Amino acid sequence: MWEFYTDKTILLTGGTGFVGTAILYRILSQATPRRIFLLLRGSQQKAQNTWADLLSDNIADSLIQNPRITIVCGNLKSPNFGLSDSDWQCLQESVEIVIHTASPINLVANLKRMSELVISPTMFLANVALQMPELQKFVFVSTAYSNSHLWPLGKEDDVFVKESFYTFDTDRGLSEPANESLENTTKGAKEEWESIRKYQTTDIWETFDFPWAYGYAKNLTERLLLEQFWRRNALEKFLIVKPSIIAPAQSCPFPGYARANSVPAAGFTAAILMSPGRHFNFASRGSDPLNNSTLDEVPVEIVVDRLLVHLARGTSGVVHTVSGKRERLSLFGFIWPMIMKERPFPWKIKPVWKSLDWNSTDLHLANRIFKLAGTSFDFEDTKTERLYANLSQREKSDLILFTNEHKPTGEERRGIVQDMLLVFGKKQHIPSFIIKSFFPAGEMPGAEVPPLPNSKDNEKL
Ligand SMILES: NC(=O)c1ccc[n+]([C@@H]2O[C@H](COP(=O)([O-])OP(=O)(O)OC[C@H]3O[C@@H](n4cnc5c(N)ncnc54)[C@H](OP(=O)(O)O)[C@@H]3O)[C@@H](O)[C@H]2O)c1
Repeated sequence: MWEFYTDKTILLTGGTGFVGTAILYRILSQATPRRIFLLLRGSQQKAQNTWADLLSDNIADSLIQNPRITIVCGNLKSPNFGLSDSDWQCLQESVEIVIHTASPINLVANLKRMSELVISPTMFLANVALQMPELQKFVFVSTAYSNSHLWPLGKEDDVFVKESFYTFDTDRGLSEPANESLENTTKGAKEEWESIRKYQTTDIWETFDFPWAYGYAKNLTERLLLEQFWRRNALEKFLIVKPSIIAPAQSCPFPGYARANSVPAAGFTAAILMSPGRHFNFASRGSDPLNNSTLDEVPVEIVVDRLLVHLARGTSGVVHTVSGKRERLSLFGFIWPMIMKERPFPWKIKPVWKSLDWNSTDLHLANRIFKLAGTSFDFEDTKTERLYANLSQREKSDLILFTNEHKPTGEERRGIVQDMLLVFGKKQHIPSFIIKSFFPAGEMPGAEVPPLPNSKDNEKL
């Protein structure tokens, strides 16, 4: 399947992010695209510094010096991303694949801000992509939790989420998997977006209990994109990739590869480690949250390989990139005891379950931000199961599509948790040596990863 990427011209946004860097590395280590345009904020030097932090110096250098990469500096916040018409025209003439990963993962920002940073730039980019004569696929990286409004609506302790779009009925307070009617699925989406711009709210946002404006903005973007590609008769060119909570790599590019503030579970762990209380209030409507709360954490290489194989195989619509029911973790059965072992305080703490709104100030701060503690989602991933069944043996062994005994216990997790502790500690004026002494980071693997293969056929460029 890697041959699909031979000689392709790709536009990748967020190529210095956790997922974007891993996509870039994976394509360049397996295939020979003609060119990858990286749309990055900042400068070439900033990109090099970010890659040097995330990767070993030799890989960072081999990325920055790779003749197949062209860096284009632009910011999602600026009109047209700050690029001139002629820059866009040049991209439009050659790009065949757009992979849009850039996005803030901000769980506290309001709807207006999320509209400006998620919805508007994505719709602008999709519009540009739809004018590319050679466009084969536009990939939008959303989140599986864009449907987490389903938790408050459900009755079961485990909420099944289909690999599909959902419709909204505000009169009846219902949200259901979309059927074949695109008219119905996309109905009112444009007015919803207009309402955010005018009033900073919408009927759907008011009616349904979305945990974060971030998730709702991704949900609305998915429906707006669906409508745009449908109206332009280009549904087969449109893929939405929906990761659950992304975890450090298990193997690729190297075990432990991660960007600290892009691994939400590391922030949750650090917040619990630093809180001195004896009782932590969490919200759940579940009957037995201690035993039934789960966390779908997916190692980053699975997100990357699912995205790249579905893209290559022509899948369109929604794809979940998740660990799924097979490999998700019990939050309080597995992760919580690990956190407790590391706490610097001599007393034990007890999670206390409250039937509260997940914005209530009675809840522990970690739960008010990371609202998933106390929920359980069963994300369908049958599209990947079906695709896997049709791969050759060689492709099956080349690709990493399923989580295999994901146990976030290794040394690699310590480094990013320490990074988050240092961030929180700084806000509370706790000297870094205190944090480092109670929570040593351990050795980070990774320095041994080989640099990218040298491009021997530069003459094609
Ligand atoms: N991490 C997760 O657990 C998770 C879970 C579900 C879905 N996702 C989705 O996966 C995608 C990638 O996330 P990630 O984990 O790779 O996050 P990340 O490490 O924070 O990367 C996000 C990328 O977006 C770029 N970006 C943010 N704001 C920008 C702006 N105003 N202009 C230009 N670029 C901007 C960042 O640039 P800088 O490098 O300059 O910061 C970075 O390269 C996102 O769409 C996210 O919503 C992530």
